[in-house]
Amino acid sequence: MTVSQSLDKRAMLDRVTEEVCKVLNIPRCSVILFSENKREGTIEAGYDILHFPGHGVGDKITVSCQPPLQQLIESRKPVVIQDAATDLRTCYIEHLVAHFGISRIAFIPLFSREDLIGVMVLDRTGIDPPFSDSEIHLMMTVAEQITVGVKNALLYDQAARHLETLEEQDRQLKAYAELLERKIDDRVREVRRLDRLSTLGELSAAIAHEIRNPLTGISSNAQLLRDNVKGNELFSELSENILIGVKRIDKIIDDILGFARPTPAFFSKCALDGLVPQTMSLFESQCRQKNIRLEVNCAPSLPELNLDKTQIQQVLANLILNALQATPPGGRISLDLTAEEGEEEQEGGGKRHVTLRITDTGAGIRAEHLDRIFDPFFTTKPEGTGLGLSISDAILKEHRADIRVHSEPGKGTTFILRFPPCRNP
Ligand SMILES: Nc1ncnc2c1ncn2[C@@H]1O[C@H](COP(=O)(O)OP(=O)(O)OP(=O)(O)O)[C@@H](O)[C@H]1O
Ligand SMILES: [Mg+2]
Repeated sequence: MTVSQSLDKRAMLDRVTEEVCKVLNIPRCSVILFSENKREGTIEAGYDILHFPGHGVGDKITVSCQPPLQQLIESRKPVVIQDAATDLRTCYIEHLVAHFGISRIAFIPLFSREDLIGVMVLDRTGIDPPFSDSEIHLMMTVAEQITVGVKNALLYDQAARHLETLEEQDRQLKAYAELLERKIDDRVREVRRLDRLSTLGELSAAIAHEIRNPLTGISSNAQLLRDNVKGNELFSELSENILIGVKRIDKIIDDILGFARPTPAFFSKCALDGLVPQTMSLFESQCRQKNIRLEVNCAPSLPELNLDKTQIQQVLANLILNALQATPPGGRISLDLTAEEGEEEQEGGGKRHVTLRITDTGAGIRAEHLDRIFDPFFTTKPEGTGLGLSISDAILKEHRADIRVHSEPGKGTTFILRFPPCRNP
């Protein structure tokens, strides 16, 4: 029996107890390991003891309730009971003695160097002969081997636990490295985008500026034409069309210049639960015409924020208009305002962020477009300029607010705007 080489503690002890039972021709054998303070023991393995409640593998035993164990701890010597039925030391396990018909019990100490780490318990039933000195001696030798095996197994357990910790740390490090990589990627993309935007912004501002002069000429000529062709239906219509086109180009130029050279924001204290319904009311008639339900839900007592009202109204208008354009008749657009506790108090006061969700039941945004909708001039609309969201994004950045989008094609879109708490001046 090479017990000391086996590393799985329970499997090793199971094998040993079974082997001991065979060699000594006894029905049961178990191994109890003591806690550090020796007040408690745990049944670590046992041959043929499994089916007795409270005395099965894994069960705990209080040493003070077991006189033979106490005696063994005090004397550090084997305790052998040759007449279990009458010996007072078995009073606490009477039921076991009776149940199995136990006649003799031997408790063999397990020492690791000087330290008493546990006990091996063996019993005999009925008319089986008493334990002889040579049998006890043999058991003491087996006990020595068991102790070495248990020590090895404990060391092995410890090493396995260390390995697990190391593996866990390795996993965490890898996850952290991946997160860092993703963050760096995001930053690089953001920097490139900003770089592209500033070049694009400057370029488009220059072009817009150049277009505006000839456009003024076209506009006044078309007006002159319209005023001089009164009565000629075809010419009147043509000149009217020119003026509509010019107006549209003018609006685009305004948008481009607004994006490329934004006007500085003028912040003042303002509550969104006033501004949101006010802006929504501008779209009521369009919604009615298109049979779209427009709702607003405001949580009570929202904190005031530092906002440039005109700019935020422009953002709201852009988002509501987009929702209106995407939503088919019979649909719904809802604006929900809530306040949430932020993690850290902002300088000068409040902690509560305000969140605005603009949800529509429209066409949704295709996954491959989600990354591009905030790029200037990205549009999927024949008449769109693709500047609404980029202007809104720039305004929100000025407000230290962020904007995110969730969209499911065919189901709808939600834009989520999160405003930081108000900073006191
Ligand atoms: N609520 C929405 N539902 C579906 N698609 C949307 C929504 N909001 C934005 N989009 C998509 O994002 C694109 C960019 O929007 P953005 O407002 O910047 O430009 P636009 O609406 O196309 O033109 P405009 O400059 O007139 O606003 C849109 O063309 C559309 O494809
Ligand atoms: Mg738009």
